[in-house]
Amino acid sequence: MSNAEESFTTSLADDAFAREDERDDALFYARDRFVAHLDARALETVEQLIGALVHEPAPAVLDLMASWDSHLPPALDAARVVGVGMNENELRQNAQLDRYLVHDLNRDPHLPFPDASFDVVLNTVSVDYLTRPGEVFTEVGRVLKPGGLHLVIFSNRCFPEKAVRRWLRSSEGERVMLVEDYFRAVGSFEAPRVFVSKGLPRPEDDRYAELGLPSDPVYAVFAERRGGAPGRPRRELPSTYSGQRPSAEELARRKEETRRSLCCPHCGVRMLRWQVPQTPFTEWDAEFMYICFNDDCPYLMAGWGSLGEQGNVGFSHRQMYEPRRHAFYPALVTGLRDLRAGIVAEPAEETEREPS
Ligand SMILES: C[S@@+](CC[C@H](N)C(=O)[O-])C[C@H]1O[C@@H](n2cnc3c(N)ncnc32)[C@H](O)[C@@H]1O
Repeated sequence: MSNAEESFTTSLADDAFAREDERDDALFYARDRFVAHLDARALETVEQLIGALVHEPAPAVLDLMASWDSHLPPALDAARVVGVGMNENELRQNAQLDRYLVHDLNRDPHLPFPDASFDVVLNTVSVDYLTRPGEVFTEVGRVLKPGGLHLVIFSNRCFPEKAVRRWLRSSEGERVMLVEDYFRAVGSFEAPRVFVSKGLPRPEDDRYAELGLPSDPVYAVFAERRGGAPGRPRRELPSTYSGQRPSAEELARRKEETRRSLCCPHCGVRMLRWQVPQTPFTEWDAEFMYICFNDDCPYLMAGWGSLGEQGNVGFSHRQMYEPRRHAFYPALVTGLRDLRAGIVAEPAEETEREPS
């Protein structure tokens, strides 16, 4: 057991890295799965993220736990892409790979590559299946060049019988922290950073679109191998919200209009009357507020990313408005259903608006 592995197992329950299906992984992955593990919009985000974070010209890329698609943007123009996975048919069909290797990382976490041989190591929607993450992350640190990027991307779907218990017992935010711990436990990485994209609309032609579900969330934790050239440019995250956000002046003008219209200044959709929960912990003296419940509101959509970057992973905010004080507040949410139970009908006679 490596030192890194020890630090996880001593601080976690004995079965943290056990799985419901403890049989050989080769059995489970013998079946071909030419499926998309995320919806099309989330896959677009994955591709954009890889494109934004990989700076190296003609990088050598290692795709760990790979299948038939490595999600590399065409502009990446990699010099060499090597895939490591469990299903040979899937790997053979992956047009982005120059070379592949069927190799069980839970049996043998050693990566059969020389030290400092890759610029980028990817692990997409698969870190939850690693039973020896400390050893694998140590190996990734070894095969990466100094300053090279280890990018671990995940969502909230998995094969539960093959995911480790620690993962299944964690909330989405805790999983981000768990992966950050994997990086920190290995001395070879810089401080990990986090990316979150959540709450984007699901494509209309998606098989689950009718259920009103948002696109699959995309989380990523990434870090560079220590020892990169000093003064090299920082890897900049893409914005999770690509729509137009109003300028500060425009926003101020729209906020004035909200007095009269009760429309959200960010998206223009009429806000809904919301009953403030009266609990001993509630500080609001107002009985009602107005909240924007538009799931496509830029304020909400951008919040998943901006709050996530501040360490509040899994949170965003809806715009809340108190007419009596003409005051705007962020109403924190962890999902699109939060706060909806408090929506109430408008009174017949509007009494709370300020006279215009
Ligand atoms: C959900 S799929 C993701 C595939 C791919 N990374 C993608 O983005 O579509 C999980 C992948 O993890 C790989 N995998 C699972 N257990 C593994 C193990 N013990 N060693 C190596 N790869 C493994 C499987 O081959 C499978 O392709």
